[in-house]
Amino acid sequence: MTLLRIEDLRLSFGGLLAIDGLCFSVGQAEIVSVIGPNGAGKTSAFNCVTGFYRPAGGQITLRGKSLSGLRPSAIAGLGIARTFQNLRLFGELSVLDNVRAGAHLWLRQSIFDALLHTPRYGRSERECTQAAHHWLDFVGLRGDRYGAARNLPYGEQRRAEIARALARRPDLLLLDEPAAGLNHGEKAEMLDLIRRIQALGIAIVLIEHDMGLVMEVSERVVVLNFGREIADGRPEDIRRDPAVIEAYLGSDTHA
Ligand SMILES: Nc1ncnc2c1ncn2[C@@H]1O[C@H](COP(=O)(O)OP(=O)(O)OP(=O)(O)O)[C@@H](O)[C@H]1O
Ligand SMILES: [Mg+2]
Repeated sequence: MTLLRIEDLRLSFGGLLAIDGLCFSVGQAEIVSVIGPNGAGKTSAFNCVTGFYRPAGGQITLRGKSLSGLRPSAIAGLGIARTFQNLRLFGELSVLDNVRAGAHLWLRQSIFDALLHTPRYGRSERECTQAAHHWLDFVGLRGDRYGAARNLPYGEQRRAEIARALARRPDLLLLDEPAAGLNHGEKAEMLDLIRRIQALGIAIVLIEHDMGLVMEVSERVVVLNFGREIADGRPEDIRRDPAVIEAYLGSDTHA
């Protein structure tokens, strides 16, 4: 079953066509990578899917329902969560509270519950804390979860951000360069984490420059260059595609 479908997506900034006719789809629990040189339009595509940018044309549907015109919060509510290329944790908040903020999205409590501290409020706050601990365990966070998020080492912050996204209980997780800045061992752990997320039945779209990780984990790879899609296929075919090799190496050298 198709979960996410992107058809003929176009996005412009002034005169610049940042995305020009992007088409791809993601099935349930599938891992699709989006790769391409810097400025190719990868993050912009995520921003269109999540409602941060308004496309100039095309269609984005989730389970057949158009996301067009929906606000980011509404789209998140439909089951799409993301992480950011430049980490966006609340640095002063504790790691745990950052993840609790993700879990709050699906809590049913009204402002009155919160103001009056009703039993329902207490119960849902406890549930939220439990969920946050669960996801921090799941991502394998080793650092102090009660301390400020900004004090965590970089690789741990990336993990905490994924925990926050998972706490939203998404069906689709968009990861923007999760392995950027990680060392060799941390990259191996990230690969394992991505697979364990998939095993939960969650589909993943992965933007990543680390080709080893991309080729290892993806079922399909979409390649963008200057906003245009130049390939969509299985990793083993993408690796040998002359247009892809040219986009990366700037020559027609065949690997
Ligand atoms: N808010 C914006 N305003 C103007 N131009 C933008 C904006 N966001 C992105 N762009 C431009 O759109 C193009 C695509 O940018 P995008 O960030 O999507 O690339 P990317 O593929 O994610 O690159 P990288 O690998 O460096 O993260 C670039 O030319 C960029 O300068
Ligand atoms: Mg980017």
